[in-house]
Amino acid sequence: MYDFAPAPALAKPELYRDLLAAADALTAGERDGVANMANVAALLGEYLPGCNWTGFYRMVEGELVLGPFVGRPACIRIALGSGVCGTAAATGESQLVEDVHAFPGHIACDANSRSELVVPVIRDGAVVAVIDLDSPDLAFFDADDRAGIEALAALLATRI
Ligand code: SME
Repeated sequence: MYDFAPAPALAKPELYRDLLAAADALTAGERDGVANMANVAALLGEYLPGCNWTGFYRMVEGELVLGPFVGRPACIRIALGSGVCGTAAATGESQLVEDVHAFPGHIACDANSRSELVVPVIRDGAVVAVIDLDSPDLAFFDADDRAGIEALAALLATRI
């Protein structure tokens, strides 16, 4: 049994250090990418209780397709350049959105979501997936979250 849980009241850099160590331990010996995404989606849900959706979209034949996640059922396919996820995938750049209602083309999967962080996972110069985090709070994510999830994306690049 795995029992990964953050220590209470950790500052964000320490929280992400612990999360990365847990993600590393969970995925290091496993070559199935779906299994690794599933465990990391669950880990993100445990470590970031302020999120209402944590998970992955995978690049499949030129579009994003829903991957393992924790949260409410979500839209299945997202075109490159569409919404926050499609913008991250098309540009290869993280998208930190303080207010999703102000993001042109935002795709509302859960009406409760108010802010969002999407980080591309890049392998050999190509986007192979995005990590998507949603929160019901405005401006929930900051530069520490972005740095932490970008480090997670780098760790997972060869494991999903
Ligand atoms: N809001 C995303 C869609 C995915 S859901 O948030 C899970 C977007 O605009 O791309």
